[in-house]
Amino acid sequence: MGMGRITELLRQIALVAVMASPVAAEEVPRTFGMSFDEGLSTSGLLDYILPRFALKTGRRFDPEMAADLSLAAGQGAPFAQRGDVVYGVDLLTDSDAAMRFRDWLLSEVGQNTISTFAPETGDPYGPVVIEEVVEEDYFEGDIPAGRLVAETHCTRCHKVSPEDRSSIGSTPSFMAMRALPDWAARFVSFYALNPHPAFLQVDGISAPFDVSRPPTIPPVLLTLDEVDNLLAYVQSVAPADLGAEIQHQ
Ligand code: HEC
Repeated sequence: MGMGRITELLRQIALVAVMASPVAAEEVPRTFGMSFDEGLSTSGLLDYILPRFALKTGRRFDPEMAADLSLAAGQGAPFAQRGDVVYGVDLLTDSDAAMRFRDWLLSEVGQNTISTFAPETGDPYGPVVIEEVVEEDYFEGDIPAGRLVAETHCTRCHKVSPEDRSSIGSTPSFMAMRALPDWAARFVSFYALNPHPAFLQVDGISAPFDVSRPPTIPPVLLTLDEVDNLLAYVQSVAPADLGAEIQHQ
């Protein structure tokens, strides 16, 4: 075969090689580190849920890694309750694998998995009884001020109170989101969840907007105080009745 043919062959091989190695592009770590209250481990809960999570998502806990997330009593987004103790999850880094574990813990599947674990001794882990968490005033802030923040900056898309008639129908209302078992985790991180980062920033936390993709609606800048007040307001919102209770079975 002539030179031209060989060059063409080499070009094709190179092309195939490029297409066959998308690995570099999606090299997101599939493992995460974690710190946790010892009881969660000695009770057997972690040994029970971690393999199930790994099976579902291909993401694994690596005991050798520094903590990307922490599971502890009385902190973070509540994911389980044993007796009077409420365990919460806190993300410590932006690890994708850890974020998936957090989301799984707070999801219906995760909650059901936790509830099916039967420890050899002691109480079972139940889903968090949301009313009790609310009584503990999980978020502290100025509720009327938080309502004003919501009415000023969120009603463009969300219905933020039962009286609010201004928002668009397809976006979840605050009352509907408030009824989800993981409402706290969603509201704590809403500014990092799409579509918000495209137009909304929290002072001192958010990265600057991408200069090549400026916001298409008037940008919103919130202070941390405003976010605290917003969270206190959302906590005070009566959850919508979404029919059958999903977290108790
Ligand atoms: C420009 C429209 C718009 C504005 C303004 C807006 N949101 Fe949203 N928000 C959305 C949309 C759309 C979704 C649904 C995203 C989805 O389902 O993936 C959403 C989802 C959410 C969620 C659930 C996030 C998740 O992924 O679980 C929370 C919490 C939230 N918004 C809070 C707020 C708060 C608080 C404000 C005001 C400070 C606000 N939003 C302002 C459009 C908006």
